[in-house]
Amino acid sequence: MSYQIPPVFTKLQRHDMMAEFDHDERARYNFLANLNRFISTVIAPGNKIAYDNRVEPRFVQENGRTFQDRHEVQTAMSQDPMYQTWAALRRSTMEMRQQAGRSVVLRQADSLAEKAEKILKNSQNLVLKPHFQTPPYLAHVDNHLMPGSYHTEYRTGDVANAANYDTGLFVTTGGMLGRLTDGGGKAIAHWVKETYPDFQPRRILDVGCGLGHNVLPIAEMYPDAEIIAIDAGAPMLRYGAARAKLLGVENVTFMQVDAENMAEFADESFDWVQTTMFLHETGGKAIHRIFGEINRVLVPGGLNLHIEQPQYTPEMSYYEQFMRDWDAYYNAEPYWGHMHDLQPEDLMEEAGVPRANFMQVGVKAINDLDEKKQDSQVKEDYGRSPIWNVFGGWKPHS
Ligand SMILES: C[S@@+](CC[C@H](N)C(=O)[O-])C[C@H]1O[C@@H](n2cnc3c(N)ncnc32)[C@H](O)[C@@H]1O
Repeated sequence: MSYQIPPVFTKLQRHDMMAEFDHDERARYNFLANLNRFISTVIAPGNKIAYDNRVEPRFVQENGRTFQDRHEVQTAMSQDPMYQTWAALRRSTMEMRQQAGRSVVLRQADSLAEKAEKILKNSQNLVLKPHFQTPPYLAHVDNHLMPGSYHTEYRTGDVANAANYDTGLFVTTGGMLGRLTDGGGKAIAHWVKETYPDFQPRRILDVGCGLGHNVLPIAEMYPDAEIIAIDAGAPMLRYGAARAKLLGVENVTFMQVDAENMAEFADESFDWVQTTMFLHETGGKAIHRIFGEINRVLVPGGLNLHIEQPQYTPEMSYYEQFMRDWDAYYNAEPYWGHMHDLQPEDLMEEAGVPRANFMQVGVKAINDLDEKKQDSQVKEDYGRSPIWNVFGGWKPHS
């Protein structure tokens, strides 16, 4: 099978907060990006062949019926050598990505932290809380195998894990997120502007902003708006605020706030609330509290949008649900399955958007690194559609 190789790592747009990579480190990243692409395009389809030819027929023979949910598929497929091989390879590349990035950023932890401090001196765009409590569901998980996840600090003013996250996404996605790893944000900013040209948000809240990859394109699209980007992880916020400054984006304030309790924000004080690839990392109860808070802070008539991988709807085959569920089992994403079982219409009702106002759209991805290759390449690539799945809606005026 032929497949298109990812762009090289040096195509990413450098900014001064990015860690320095030497020749061998760049080569390692390129190798891993290629290995990921190979596994997801050449090896992954073997799972369907194993399912069709071996696993499902055997299950039917033994049980007199086919699968009734994705968990049964998981149990059966996990006995099959094809799936075992693919899953182990995928897990190993993720572990390697994390360790490759860590070896780069940890040796620069001091200089990166000092740089962030210097860039942010006297800045009003970063608000951290000295006694912030990391939400328990986040504190004990190394999300997607990132040791220490988003919140761990190895020194005062640390940004190391954010620096690892910034470049590591290139490896996992094979550069599909663009030069600044902001393809989702670019896509949603353009889509909102084109679809609702009269919408003039004055205040926008980005919940679970990470280091701000996807909120900066929104801030650039609406330069007169005040943007508040909240996250639980201090390293992400520090790095994000410094990165935004280096990229010349001034209208975003990065704040350390637990999305489950946004007490610092008044009722009905934001015109648009956005989340991007955030909800699947929130705990089982937390997600409902977060939607309650979003409802509280959103103005009547406000816009509420979420970019996420598609939910497991009844229309999605159990095989596809099972493949998408890999992250829940092997990528330290313990809330993934639970979150994707929830139906988006129900979540939006919790956020004050009635079913009549619910929308779910496929927003075309924007990849300024490699646009012409993108569409044909990634259709095969589970979980990495060239279309961003977006759900949300407008909160009624009264
Ligand atoms: C996968 S990252 C998404 C980053 C970002 N939205 C983007 O598009 O690049 C998820 C982020 O959610 C944050 N997070 C998870 N639970 C949170 C909570 N209860 N309050 C605030 N941030 C939270 C994590 O710290 C992490 O940075």
